Amino acid sequence: MMKKIKIAVIAGDGIGPEVLSEGIKVLKTISELEASCEFEFTHFPWGCEYYLENGKMMDDDALDQLKDFDAIYLGAVGFPGVPDHISLWDLLLKIRKGFDQYVNLRPIKLLKGAKQTLKNANPEDIDMLVIRENSEGEYSGAGDWLYKGTEREIVMQNGVFSRVGTERIIRYAFEEAKKQGKTLTSISKANALNYSMVFWDQVFDQVSKDYPEVETYSYLVDAAAMYMIDQPWRFEIVVTSNLFGDILTDLGASIAGGIGLAAGANINPERKYPPMFEPIHGSAPDIAGQGIANPLASIWSVSQMLDFFGYEDWGERVLQAIEDVLIDGKVLTSDMNGSSSTNEVGNAVVDKLISQK
Ligand code: NAI
Ligand code: MG
Repeated sequence: MMKKIKIAVIAGDGIGPEVLSEGIKVLKTISELEASCEFEFTHFPWGCEYYLENGKMMDDDALDQLKDFDAIYLGAVGFPGVPDHISLWDLLLKIRKGFDQYVNLRPIKLLKGAKQTLKNANPEDIDMLVIRENSEGEYSGAGDWLYKGTEREIVMQNGVFSRVGTERIIRYAFEEAKKQGKTLTSISKANALNYSMVFWDQVFDQVSKDYPEVETYSYLVDAAAMYMIDQPWRFEIVVTSNLFGDILTDLGASIAGGIGLAAGANINPERKYPPMFEPIHGSAPDIAGQGIANPLASIWSVSQMLDFFGYEDWGERVLQAIEDVLIDGKVLTSDMNGSSSTNEVGNAVVDKLISQK
């Protein structure tokens, strides 16, 4: 039976539209090769340009418009002229929080042929899945700005760690480690953050009792940053808070071929709301409009999307096609020391996909 998958496309700003069109090309190729699924794309014009015209990043009823889609495919938001905290909070974070996408899955895997930043690590040494808490923590948005603009100015940015929020992300990570038969590492900072991270560690300990078969490790975030460079093979499944996960996955991108390759999935595991798939890079205003952005991160997020919909074989094949393009090393964008365009790299991935069968 033909399955129709409805995708809401928010291409956003800068290089967002340029890289997403290559991911869409890959999905269209798959529906031609695989008779059982078809993708239907609906484009939403939201982002900074929309903000400058309408005074808002998205329509007021945006979440209502999005809620019946099977997935959201996001490019990037942010552009000079609109403050970054507005573009982030009024679009990306509104969707993540509004749709309770509390799991952020960020694979950090060094593909063969990708740029090797660490001289001591080979592709098999860097293969981790960072599971980042995506709904609260340091990015809860709770705080205040008192006596603004005066000498008595006080700014408070609160970290919010609820029992429900902390337990569900840690439990999700244990389930994943158990399913994959891998170790689980928790990254926190209980020595300095004497409430939130002491609590995090306590919940991690409690939940671990339900998973005696999962081998666990627990590191302070500063040491973890060092280990990711020195001994990345220590990490398999990783669970951490919103802020730490944000920072460590950019570090991860850098040791796994660069920011032009790193993808992320925002998921509500209960499937009450649609998931959102995105490259983790931003809108790169410095190279926007030139047709030279690397589309591989955006294509990798298509692989995550396929996994989510139960087409794991296709998810694997898309990743393989990306790796084949990297191994060839002939069609790459300038961030990977190539000279090809965004479009040419997308076409190269499509060619690899077609020639696999
Ligand atoms: P960025 O990721 O946009 O760019 C950082 C550097 O990496 C730049 O030199 C850029 O040219 C390069 N780069 C990024 N993606 C690339 C790609 N696919 N191919 C080749 N080179 C690439 O981060 P930056 O400069 O800190 O932020 C720019 C804007 O993006 C800001 O407005 C920021 O708020 C926004 N942003 C949005 C995100 C999102 O929508 N998910 C995530 C991060 C930043
Ligand atoms: Mg980030």
